[in-house]
Order: sequence, then C-alpha cells, then structure tokens
Amino acid sequence: MINNEISKNSLTLPHILDFAQLDPKIQKNPENHWTWNLSSLSYQMGRFAFNNSPEVGLFFRYISLYYQIDTAIETGTFEGSTTRFFAMNFNEVHTIELSEHRFKQGKELLKDLTNVHHYFGNSQDVLKHILPTLKQKRLLCYLDAHWNDYWPLLDEIEEIGQTHKDHCIIVIDDVKVPGRKDVFYDSYRKQSGSDEYLECSYEFAKSKLDGAFSGYHYHYVVPQNPEMRAKLVVIPHKWKD
Ligand SMILES: C[S@@+](CC[C@H](N)C(=O)[O-])C[C@H]1O[C@@H](n2cnc3c(N)ncnc32)[C@H](O)[C@@H]1O
Repeated sequence: MINNEISKNSLTLPHILDFAQLDPKIQKNPENHWTWNLSSLSYQMGRFAFNNSPEVGLFFRYISLYYQIDTAIETGTFEGSTTRFFAMNFNEVHTIELSEHRFKQGKELLKDLTNVHHYFGNSQDVLKHILPTLKQKRLLCYLDAHWNDYWPLLDEIEEIGQTHKDHCIIVIDDVKVPGRKDVFYDSYRKQSGSDEYLECSYEFAKSKLDGAFSGYHYHYVVPQNPEMRAKLVVIPHKWKD
C-alpha cells in the first residue's frame, strides 16, 4: 500500500540533499535533535546506522520503496549497525566483511535477523560469487569497505556492472562533496608509503560508474551532522523518474 502510494509520486532529488537544511530549528538546538530522541528500541530501529545518522536511513527507505528495491548489499559489515537497518527495511540483505573478527562479531550481533546473509572475505571476490545469483533483482549496493591498504571501491563497482548494469543503485560512503569543506571524507595513500593520496569522490569513481550504467544521475546526501560523512547516490536513468 505505502509502496504503491510512493511509486505514484514523482521523485525530484536535489543534487545535494542536505538534512541540516531541512529544519534549521533542529540544527540550532542539538538537544532536541530528533535522532537522539528515539525510544529505547533505537538500536533495533537502526539508530546507529549510517554513522549515527538515521535520517539518512529514512532517505534510503524512501528511495527503495520508490524504486521497488527489496535487496541490499553492503560491503564492510563492521559492527552491523547499518546491516541491521537494511534488515528492517529490505527483504534480503547480503553483507561482506574481510576481517574475521568483525565477520564473527557481526554474525553474533545480528543473529536475531533471519534475512541477513553474512560473507567472510574480500568484497570483490564475494561479489563475483553472489551477484550472479541475484541477477533478476534490483539492488541497492552500499559500498563501505575500506581502512586497509587495498581499497576495493573501484573493483566493486566494476564487478557490479558485470551483472547489474543499469539494474541497481550504487551508494558510496565517505565521499567528498564539492564546495563543502565542512563535510569530512576519506582519502587513501595511492600506494603504501606514498605521499600521494586518492580522494573518495565522484571524480575518482567516475570511469567505473560510467561502465556500470549506460546513463545515471547522482546526488550527494549530507546528514544533519556533516562530520558523519556524506553518501554519493547513483541512480540509473533507465529507472523511471
Ligand atoms: C567503515 S567500516 C563499515 C561500517 C559499516 N558499513 C556500518 O555502516 O556500520 C569498514 C569495514 O570494511 C571492512 N573491509 C575493509 N576492506 C574490506 C574488503 N576488501 N572487503 C570487505 N570488507 C572490507 C573493514 O574490516 C571494516 O569492518
């Protein structure tokens, strides 16, 4: 029902969706920040998802209903906070973790959730294995695997494009937002020991995104607290608007 209602409306997203701009009163009065006032069930509700920015979760819930996506893939499980949010809002969730410790911890923390599939390994290798089994499905791919010398982002996008060209939304976490020095983002040494850095930005991912879609529009989603990092959201042109 909700699904049908949402699908009927047209979706017009700004190039930069900044949650702090939506209600200046909330921004000025952090004690009343609604995200801190969720009930004691807040953990189950996904309060800690997206670096403690549940408002970003609401956005993903909306676009997944709008575009009728019921399957989410996450690279980088860590402690499973965002995985939990996905589990509550998607029928099926696949989450991939390279660290054995985090993989086991994630499984334990999320053992109450039957729709979450955990995978241990390097995201590109696991994607190669699972994406062909999800070929008929529209996906939301949340790419958040990093912190090691090898940063798999470009390989992940390439892998997704092999099976889901124009058939998924790609979300990249920790991205640089043009013109916004207040928004923190990630950068990585080009090679171990090198003084050259690669910035997590649209420009960095562009060539791989160009291969994974025949056309797309992209948006930046900035949480109420910009220190909690922005997301780049890439949507195929082929999907209705
Ligand atoms: C920023 S954390 C993920 C946070 C999580 N998505 C969340 O929203 O709570 C990054 C995780 O990616 C994992 N990671 C790093 N490189 C990876 C790779 N190549 N494949 C899969 N996971 C990787 C790290 O071990 C770490 O747990």
